[in-house]
Amino acid sequence: MTAPSLGASGSTAPGSAAPAPSIEFEAVAFAYPDGTRALEDVSLRIEPGELVAIVGQNGSGKSTLARHLNGLLRPTSGRVLLGGADIRLQHVASLAGRVGLAFQNPDRQLFAGRVSAEVAFGPHNMGLRGALLDERVRSALAAVGLNAEAASNPYDLGYSRRKLLSLASVLAMRTPILVLDEPTTGQDARGVARVRAVVASAAAEGRTVIAISHDMRFTAECFRRVVVMRAGRVALDGAPEAVFAEAAWPDLRATDLEPPLAAVAGTRLGLGSTPTTSSFVAALRLGSTPTPAARVAALGRRQGAK
Ligand SMILES: Nc1ncnc2c1ncn2[C@@H]1O[C@H](COP(=O)(O)OP(=O)(O)O)[C@@H](O)[C@H]1O
Ligand SMILES: [Mg+2]
Repeated sequence: MTAPSLGASGSTAPGSAAPAPSIEFEAVAFAYPDGTRALEDVSLRIEPGELVAIVGQNGSGKSTLARHLNGLLRPTSGRVLLGGADIRLQHVASLAGRVGLAFQNPDRQLFAGRVSAEVAFGPHNMGLRGALLDERVRSALAAVGLNAEAASNPYDLGYSRRKLLSLASVLAMRTPILVLDEPTTGQDARGVARVRAVVASAAAEGRTVIAISHDMRFTAECFRRVVVMRAGRVALDGAPEAVFAEAAWPDLRATDLEPPLAAVAGTRLGLGSTPTTSSFVAALRLGSTPTPAARVAALGRRQGAK
């Protein structure tokens, strides 16, 4: 079958993905029917292939923002554009083929009585059948480590695996844009590693990945841009090196976020902004070419300056 609407779906080969459409929020405000104002004047542009983490305290509007990306919510005022066109004017099915959203709460997303049926639902709706559909289901389940559970009932899986299942059901759509609402929450180290691998392979295929997270290490290490939300607004927006730099710490802390340990350690040692473990180690190696005694003296000067 040929299905241009499937976007990245035609092949699994890296680099073969259809280019993702750009995303634009233009002065978006949103209030829930009960009057709760969840977004205020949000303007953001996300280019095709960007890796964007959205962070911020509970209730700051992150999930509300995510739900605007696939048309689940429509702005009260302002516009959301996908590929330059107002989302309001786009059919839900057409949005579903381009934007995959894995919900924060998997139990709001999952509905099938069997893991394989859950994952097959989206691609089946997009017209896939037979061996192509089976392959889609198998590869999505393999990406999250749930192949052995294909015949299980989703409700026999624990919470963290239901969350991975909701991720698999979104992956199976092979949308050029992936939106993951708190994908690492409740995951052990192996689960986090699977999520990281999913992000890395989507990135290698040129897909846009937007993830909401409370895990600053995951944020700094897997994303090239960090958007900090506070009270429905964008408080900070930049590369991890900027958002986790010392100058931004007061703003981060005002939204109940702590910079990653590597960023704090690098700053304390006078190494500059080192938001990731690897950037910290690299800076430490470079910076330690002088004698260790010189480094200790530098650290002392820094602390004396405080
Ligand atoms: N369905 C809803 N009805 C009314 N208010 C809601 C609803 N969902 C979220 N809210 C409120 O909107 C605000 C933003 O929520 P949300 O986007 O879920 O934040 P986050 O994902 O950052 O924790 C909060 O004040 C929250 O209580
Ligand atoms: Mg949320």
